[in-house]
Amino acid sequence: MELLSEWKKKKCPKSTKYRFSHQKYCLIVVEAHHSSVLVFALALLCLTILLVLSLLTLPTPEQDRPTLGSETRSVTLLIWWLPFGNGRSLPDCKVSYGVPGCNVTTDRRVYAHADAVIIHHRDFLMHWEELLEKPRPPLQKWIWMNFESPSHSGSLHQIDGIFNLTMSYHAGSDIFLPYGYLEPHHSYGNRQIRMKRKRRLVAWVISNWREEQERVQFYYRFRRYLHVDIYGRGFLPLVNNSVVKTVSGYKFYLAFENSCHTDYITEKLWCNALVSGAVPVVLGPSRENYERFLPADAFIHVEDFKNPRSLASYLKRLDRNPALYRHYHAWRRNYNVHVTSFWAEHFCAACQVVQDNLLVHKTARDLASWFLS
Ligand SMILES: *[C@@H]1O[C@H](CO)[C@@H](O)[C@H](O)[C@H]1NC(C)=O
Ligand SMILES: *[C@@H]1O[C@H](CO)[C@@H](O)[C@H](O)[C@H]1NC(C)=O
Ligand SMILES: *[C@@H]1O[C@H](CO)[C@@H](O)[C@H](O)[C@H]1NC(C)=O
Repeated sequence: MELLSEWKKKKCPKSTKYRFSHQKYCLIVVEAHHSSVLVFALALLCLTILLVLSLLTLPTPEQDRPTLGSETRSVTLLIWWLPFGNGRSLPDCKVSYGVPGCNVTTDRRVYAHADAVIIHHRDFLMHWEELLEKPRPPLQKWIWMNFESPSHSGSLHQIDGIFNLTMSYHAGSDIFLPYGYLEPHHSYGNRQIRMKRKRRLVAWVISNWREEQERVQFYYRFRRYLHVDIYGRGFLPLVNNSVVKTVSGYKFYLAFENSCHTDYITEKLWCNALVSGAVPVVLGPSRENYERFLPADAFIHVEDFKNPRSLASYLKRLDRNPALYRHYHAWRRNYNVHVTSFWAEHFCAACQVVQDNLLVHKTARDLASWFLS
């Protein structure tokens, strides 16, 4: 539930119009890196991911996709549960994302002729009996959708072999949507960076505080050496109820994930830190994992330091040295931050993948071990 409550507080930019493309995504990532060995490794990784994805989800040019006459094949996408009961209006995928031919609906009466059914993991666990007994039309895809980490997902091992396609933040998903990503700016390389003057040092917004969390334990050790302004329930109130407004007055933001898992890098990084103009100090998956998604010098990883004390003295050093600090913003000359729009963008991305794979048969086996990997 943390995800929804945090998103309500967001004032992040609306997503731009684009056609979903895994290739584009990987290019962005590779371009963003400087070390050539790393570029090679990443290119290899991207190629592997693409190869796997392309078996299922290779986005093809418009004219090559299944068509009826000159029209794009219309696809009916049934959203069985709106995630967390979220009742916001359903997207027009053509208008918002340039994906024509999507009939996104929550009307369960269309089940028998729906091309795909989006099934939200959390709701499925609570009400699986609503669906499991239903006869399944031969080409219908059941799409497993989950944007929580394995630590907050539960009962993963019980759902092997039920679904056809996976949709999550995990890069190996059939429908892969990170919480955000960098897109090359149209005046790539030539943009001047104008930074707001920042008077404060370290901010953290947290809505789900639990003593056993690694991030909370880290904070207790860190605060002995450097003060952190904490916002959220039971802490300081946000400026104008906006995370971005609040954090934009700070040089650093603690983008600490609630649990540490591969590719689980959330809006805490993309929106709370990067959109706000703060340098993220991250705690989550490994530095290597973060570097698949953004340049090595766009963030500071807690694992870069032998202890919280040396992290604190490094932040103090950056505070005294503006040139060194500005270096962490250099990527802004080339990239914009795209924050993924829940859930419109997700439904439209799914629609496109379904259109491109209308005749494909597939079952997501070993879903638990894959998602935990
Ligand atoms: C979407 O599907 C519903 C249910 O089948 C149908 O009534 C409606 O006309 C469809 N809309 C479009 C634009 O195809
Ligand atoms: C907060 O909102 C009020 C009213 O909309 C506005 O006048 C004020 O400038 C805002 N403050 C900040 C820091 O943006
Ligand atoms: C979807 O998965 C189910 C369960 O394994 C399987 O019976 C069905 O044939 C699959 N359908 C498609 C279109 O792949």
